[in-house]
Amino acid sequence: MKRVLKFFGWMVGVIVIIVLCFVGFVLLKWDQKYDAPYPELAASSDSTLIARGKYLVYGPAHCAGCHNTAERSLEVDNGKDLLLIGGAEFVFEPGVIRSRNLTPDLETGIGKLTDGEVARVMRNSIGADGRPIFPLMPFQNMSDEDVVAILSYLRSQEPVNHFVKPTEYSFMGKAVLAFGLIKPEGPSGTPPKSIAIEPSEVYGKYLANSVANCVGCHSPRDLMSGEFIGPKFSRGLEFEEAPGANFITPNLTPDPETGIIADWSEDAFVARFRAGRLYEHSPMPWGSFARMTDVDLRAIYRYLMALEPVSNKVEKTQYMLEVNPVN
Ligand code: HEC
Ligand code: HEC
Repeated sequence: MKRVLKFFGWMVGVIVIIVLCFVGFVLLKWDQKYDAPYPELAASSDSTLIARGKYLVYGPAHCAGCHNTAERSLEVDNGKDLLLIGGAEFVFEPGVIRSRNLTPDLETGIGKLTDGEVARVMRNSIGADGRPIFPLMPFQNMSDEDVVAILSYLRSQEPVNHFVKPTEYSFMGKAVLAFGLIKPEGPSGTPPKSIAIEPSEVYGKYLANSVANCVGCHSPRDLMSGEFIGPKFSRGLEFEEAPGANFITPNLTPDPETGIIADWSEDAFVARFRAGRLYEHSPMPWGSFARMTDVDLRAIYRYLMALEPVSNKVEKTQYMLEVNPVN
């Protein structure tokens, strides 16, 4: 009996030590910093570049919807060009991730960041303070010209003083950071200098993967680390947006049985995007995407229709109880 008790005593002791080591490791390591050279890209006052930047920010790249408070984000979705004052809160398992004020305000915005620091967030997912940026922005392979266009538009905004509380990680989130599971991701090769704006598969691939983040929502991913864990565009994430408003992203590959757009014509695809949001709480930034040009939408359609078909049935993309249709 005594031996058994002694054994359990040891066991408990060992477990306590392991737990303490784990907690200590997480608390020491979660705040680790990363480094990468600053991209040599700088804002310009060229009006064509500023206009392209504005188009990307309010349209395909939908920075404006995310970099605003929830209420302002709805107004942006309804077509208003509100400045990017930040303040959206994304509540995930790893923590509360808050979007920053991207107006050139010196105190609360990007006024004190250099162009290189802002560009490095987009290219390498590393903040000015060296922290890994939570993987919501897939702009690593954006062309030099488009990054410059966006920088130029951001700098051209009126500065707005609007403080946003910093991102806060839960203990789980800190553990994920400590073990390097959320870590900065850089470009997969040398990003293009510029890209031809035409209704081609190449441009569609660029938009769907490096600008509009169709890939991020329409692919299976690990929700802790953001890692892709299945064929891209074959369906993806489940969203619990509001009580009774749950969504699963449909399969966008051209599988005749299970792909949602497999039997849509190119014109029907464009018309669907022009129609905008059908479900009130859908997380898809329909309002921003409705501002996309025909050229951009046709390019995306052609790219998606050329993907390898993957059979993956999604019964209903919107489900449960009474979701209020918008009209
Ligand atoms: C899906 C929502 C979403 C979209 C789209 C988005 N952002 Fe963000 N952005 C965020 C969030 C959330 C953070 C904070 C991340 C963190 O704290 O790790 C952030 C952080 C940033 C930062 C870091 C600022 C700082 O203070 O360090 C920059 C710069 C930035 N975003 C630029 C952009 C630009 C430019 C675009 C469009 C090309 C864009 N974002 C699109 C959600 C988004
Ligand atoms: C933030 C997540 C998110 C992003 C980014 C996103 N989607 Fe979606 N998408 C969804 C969700 C959720 C649904 C299902 C609810 C709905 O139809 O609004 C959906 C539905 C769709 C549908 C079906 C619409 C219908 O009428 O049935 C198509 C087509 C589509 N997305 C294409 C795209 C394309 C192309 C892109 C990139 C330009 C994209 N999505 C980006 C989340 C997203």
